[in-house]
Amino acid sequence: MKRKFFSLMALAAALSVSGEVNYQVVPLPQRIELDKTAQTTLLIKGQAVSYPAENAQMRRNAEFAREFLGLVPTPEQPSKKKSKKQQSAPVALTLGLQSEKPDAYQITVGKQGVTIQGASESGVFYGIQTLRKSIAAEPGDTVALPWAIVCAEPRFLYRGTMLDCARHFFPLEFVKTYIDILALHGVNKFHWHLTDDQGWRPEIKALPDLARKASYRPYTIVGKNIGLADPANTIYDDTPEQGFYTQAEMREIVQYAAERYITVIPEIDLPGHMVAALSVYPELGCTGGPYFVRPYWGIDPDVLCAGNPKTLEFIKTVLGEICEVFPSKYIHIGGDESPRTRWKTCPKCQAKMKEKGYTQEAQLQSDINKEVEKFLTSKGRELIGWDEILEGGLSENATVMSWRGFKGGIEAARQHHRVIMTPTNHCYIDYYQLKNHDQQPLAIGGYLPLSKVYEMEPIPGELSEEEGKYILGAQCNLWTEYVASPDHAMYMLLPRLAAITEVQWLQPEAKNFEQFTGRLSNLQRVYRKACYKYCATYE
Ligand code: ACM
Ligand code: ZN
Repeated sequence: MKRKFFSLMALAAALSVSGEVNYQVVPLPQRIELDKTAQTTLLIKGQAVSYPAENAQMRRNAEFAREFLGLVPTPEQPSKKKSKKQQSAPVALTLGLQSEKPDAYQITVGKQGVTIQGASESGVFYGIQTLRKSIAAEPGDTVALPWAIVCAEPRFLYRGTMLDCARHFFPLEFVKTYIDILALHGVNKFHWHLTDDQGWRPEIKALPDLARKASYRPYTIVGKNIGLADPANTIYDDTPEQGFYTQAEMREIVQYAAERYITVIPEIDLPGHMVAALSVYPELGCTGGPYFVRPYWGIDPDVLCAGNPKTLEFIKTVLGEICEVFPSKYIHIGGDESPRTRWKTCPKCQAKMKEKGYTQEAQLQSDINKEVEKFLTSKGRELIGWDEILEGGLSENATVMSWRGFKGGIEAARQHHRVIMTPTNHCYIDYYQLKNHDQQPLAIGGYLPLSKVYEMEPIPGELSEEEGKYILGAQCNLWTEYVASPDHAMYMLLPRLAAITEVQWLQPEAKNFEQFTGRLSNLQRVYRKACYKYCATYE
């Protein structure tokens, strides 16, 4: 033990100590109070990091301190009186910070060493991430940390990011990397878009053909051809796209995310975006098919038949298994872009409208949502849907994800429904991030530069203070029609994710784009260290 201590000291002396750390990370802490004496404490690789021995999450946090800071986890026994020799380790992870926000943390660097204290275990985790980002620019095994108090607590409870694994399948290892990236930035909700017209990804044991067959498409449209506007000139790539996640794999993701204080919110998009499922269960469509897993993009007119009682049976079977795999309180049921054209001419749908006395097809969708909500409530869960679920009337407890601008979110908040803001013009990171398209891979369109993400304000001014409380948070979305590889996905995500996390963590008056871009260069060092691809220029 002693020998190790001396060798560490020798190592510390031998290495140059730069002392450049200033704790200016992304997302920016609320308070960075540097000690006036300008003294520093050395953080040395191989040093001990103590944690409450009986707390498994804190033990896991100490392992993160090993991974990100090079420290050695050392359980602290609270019951025994410490001898002089057993004084607190130079770095300590502790709980007990007074804050209403469980994610709050305080890092204290001083004579006693370094303490990372959280209001809960998640707060400690965010403190570790902040320290990791603070020292990212420092070379060598020893860093001089200026004495300081650094504190933060997030503005919003819901800090989300979505990944579409239906349009293109992303392997489990990359889903974990994606979660690592979210954790680095202080995101706490991973919205996993699992089903769509172009592929079904989650294994449903009672309906094995969904994973076996609907997770495969033999080829995909080439280029920017949305839909089949010009079939004669449509080119396909001859490359099969396939893959699904077994329930064991999805549980692995849930566990992996939970260790990083991230909840996985699965999305089963219904009643539209269901053609992959219809391809194996054509009786659930209004026309009876045949249907095939779509090899092109766009909104498909074929959706689940709202007049067929088997549709609800199907939905309940799927969601029942989804609830078993995903412990999340929220289950996302999509609801977007579901044309009602087939319902207008379907005898079953029309009979149902008549039976219920409905005057608009939108009420059929609302009817499905209400049934689904009842089912989810019976499992102790709550429903989230895209803002189309407002049409025809919201089910009682629905949370609305506002994507077609802020309007749907405003309407829902005024009806006292919870809202997550994810408007296309600030949050759709499948859009181009630079004006000059030649510098970037093909994207779906649009233009969403870093600055536009950064300037988003999730609580619209037209809401009263009371209504504003219904805005749970914000989220950015990565749809993957044109994103087929992990490297490309990271390029679309970074650094725009960094901008949305300052929206999620900071009070509006603390935001400053110029200063943010200064801090971003340090964050990019973390990206490079972790081999994360990112867009190196920004507008
Ligand atoms: C969506 O972008 N269709 C929710
Ligand atoms: Zn129908």
